[in-house]
Amino acid sequence: MPTHVRVRSLAKINLDLRVLHKRPDGYHDLRTIFQTISLADTIDITCSPGRTKIDINGNLNIPDNLIAKATDSVLAATRKTARIGFVFSKRIPLGAGLGGGSSNAAAVLLALPRMLGKPLPTEKLIELAASLGSDVPFFLLGGAAVGLGRGTELYPLPDLPAFPALLITPGIHVSTPEAYRALARSEATLDTAPIFAFQSLVSRLPDSRIECQNDFEMVVFRQHPQLKSIREKLLKLGARPALMSGSGSTVFGISAKKDLRDRAARAMRREFAGDQAHSVQLVSRSRYDAMWRRQLAGVRG
Ligand code: C5P
Repeated sequence: MPTHVRVRSLAKINLDLRVLHKRPDGYHDLRTIFQTISLADTIDITCSPGRTKIDINGNLNIPDNLIAKATDSVLAATRKTARIGFVFSKRIPLGAGLGGGSSNAAAVLLALPRMLGKPLPTEKLIELAASLGSDVPFFLLGGAAVGLGRGTELYPLPDLPAFPALLITPGIHVSTPEAYRALARSEATLDTAPIFAFQSLVSRLPDSRIECQNDFEMVVFRQHPQLKSIREKLLKLGARPALMSGSGSTVFGISAKKDLRDRAARAMRREFAGDQAHSVQLVSRSRYDAMWRRQLAGVRG
């Protein structure tokens, strides 16, 4: 019997992001705070017995879709063959610092082993996730979490309130590897100052008066001054904090109250098209867990 599930695959923002030093393996050591938000893609997954055949269709053409890579890694790890179909509807903008591709890959890791009747242990899922991309393991967890190392070493933080947030994604594509290169970090042992500053910030969450920081802003704002002016506008409209997410180009602002966020959304929509301004809220780990339990409730395994 074929099995079918429809899953929501959530986006993330980085509430803080510090890039420390370059590592011998070419990656950079980070200190970041990941947070899931309510902006989501939808993926329909069908799975039936047979020789392996993978079909991926959706509302966008995505080269090197991580859904395909994640499927290959699940089939290898479970030693299963199957006919698997995906139909996705993307709402999370691509290459925008919102982790859409990584979230889709994690959705495959969470759903497919169960649909194949071969659930994988958490350690194995984390290992597969890290091999697919630095942001993928976070989406196995959701909520708020500190990410260290490449971003794959995760420490869950207590749930933050479901603060309303506004995202502005002005259609600028920022290449992540280029943004890292532009930072020109050395391989020298890291300066401890940013670590202490980061630690003090984490300990004061969810106080919205804290000074959040994204190291990529320095290099990305230089190239795209428009992003800096978006952040300044969000601050003027009362958002705290207002910050770029990941290596950009999304700039988000968090509001303590929904009507404040909605007022900011109305003001920003005069300047940005509907698909460039998204009103969302933070999604806690308990809501993320409940969403995944609901999504996979009917699946054996
Ligand atoms: O892991 P992921 O495939 O998402 O990384 C994309 C690129 O971003 C890497 O090839 C690397 O250039 C850069 N990166 C990095 N340090 C990290 C994460 C990513 O230098 N911690």
